Amino acid sequence: MAISPRPSAADVMATDLEAVRARTRGLVAHLSTADLERQIDPILSPLVWDLGHIAAYEDLWLVHRHGGHDLLHGELAALYDAFETPRAVRGDLAILGHADALRYLDDVRARTLAVMDARGVDPVLHEMVLRHELQHTETMLQAMEVAGLLPPHVAGPAAGPGVAGPEWLEIPAGPLPMGAAAGVFAYDNERPVRHVEVPAFRIARRPVTSASWLTFTEGGGYVRREWWSDEGWAWKEDQDINGDHVRADGPSGTPVCHVSWFEAEAFARSVGARLPTEAEWEKAASLARRPAPSSPIDPLEGVGQVWEWTSSEFSAYPGFRAHPYREYSEVFFDRGYRVLRGGSWAADPRVATTTFRNWDLPQRSQIFSGVRLAADAVPTPSPPPSRS
Ligand code: AVJ
Ligand code: FE
Repeated sequence: MAISPRPSAADVMATDLEAVRARTRGLVAHLSTADLERQIDPILSPLVWDLGHIAAYEDLWLVHRHGGHDLLHGELAALYDAFETPRAVRGDLAILGHADALRYLDDVRARTLAVMDARGVDPVLHEMVLRHELQHTETMLQAMEVAGLLPPHVAGPAAGPGVAGPEWLEIPAGPLPMGAAAGVFAYDNERPVRHVEVPAFRIARRPVTSASWLTFTEGGGYVRREWWSDEGWAWKEDQDINGDHVRADGPSGTPVCHVSWFEAEAFARSVGARLPTEAEWEKAASLARRPAPSSPIDPLEGVGQVWEWTSSEFSAYPGFRAHPYREYSEVFFDRGYRVLRGGSWAADPRVATTTFRNWDLPQRSQIFSGVRLAADAVPTPSPPPSRS
């Protein structure tokens, strides 16, 4: 009897890298050269920059660092370095055009596969590069949406179950091993795992829907000073924000999308709630992911539709160690970025794990961001004094 050999780690990774690449190419196949090369928005890169950057990143980590070879295009390294060239100027750079960027992707991939044949797979670096491409395809989808250029086969957020009104899950007080366990791939900012005592709280079963969002706007959401933080109100007044950028036009059960942190916070206050902390979000999500008989609560619904803002600022877990890509997290800590959890319809589940931390500035709404409400636990009445 013929026994088919188990595929090696390198074979599995090569197949996965190829699948991710096929998806990336499929997302831009309908676009003209002009649309790929223009700067769509000052806070987003030209799409062709993302393509070249994906190639440059793969060449840097898998061919140069892992394989020990020179870079294929050392002269382009600075142009595709996210820190040397901020998004707003990427449209003016002498970056590769459409055809050259696609060829760069192919040429690097051939080098990557040759290095894998010779040296095998690094469990951290290859997974990091694969997820890097998945993260950039999400940013590319943001740019395409802004430009009205979403591919015809991309669905967007799914309509929810259509149930109106908040429905709270009660989460009892208890410990949470917060962060990623050793031995699984995770980004440096998810480590080290530590025990956190999370007090009892309530969390909404579902993300805030388009219908609820309209109730907020129509009920004076952008006029009622008392619902806004000082910083949020100043930003709103300064920038003339009236919520036009928020997507609340889906069927009533669809999660609201493109909400900034300032607006998410104001919405929560308008209904007497708040945003969950990161620890609360992770606790609720991890309890709900346990097998049904052993889970004390019902699952959170709608995770993976829209990124969910938390109240937490993006900062290091105690004992953080930058690894292996120093600029991934460390340079963003304690600079006013807020953490989002969960994932969006445009995020691959391989990236959007329960411990994954996304982040953006509180005024940003280009990401596929929505709101899940939280609240303090309803205090249980203390038992009557015993009479004995
Ligand atoms: C984790 C989504 C905030 O896009 O800025 C991509 C991911 N880092 N290349 C970003 C990332 C470097 C990052 N986010
Ligand atoms: Fe990147």
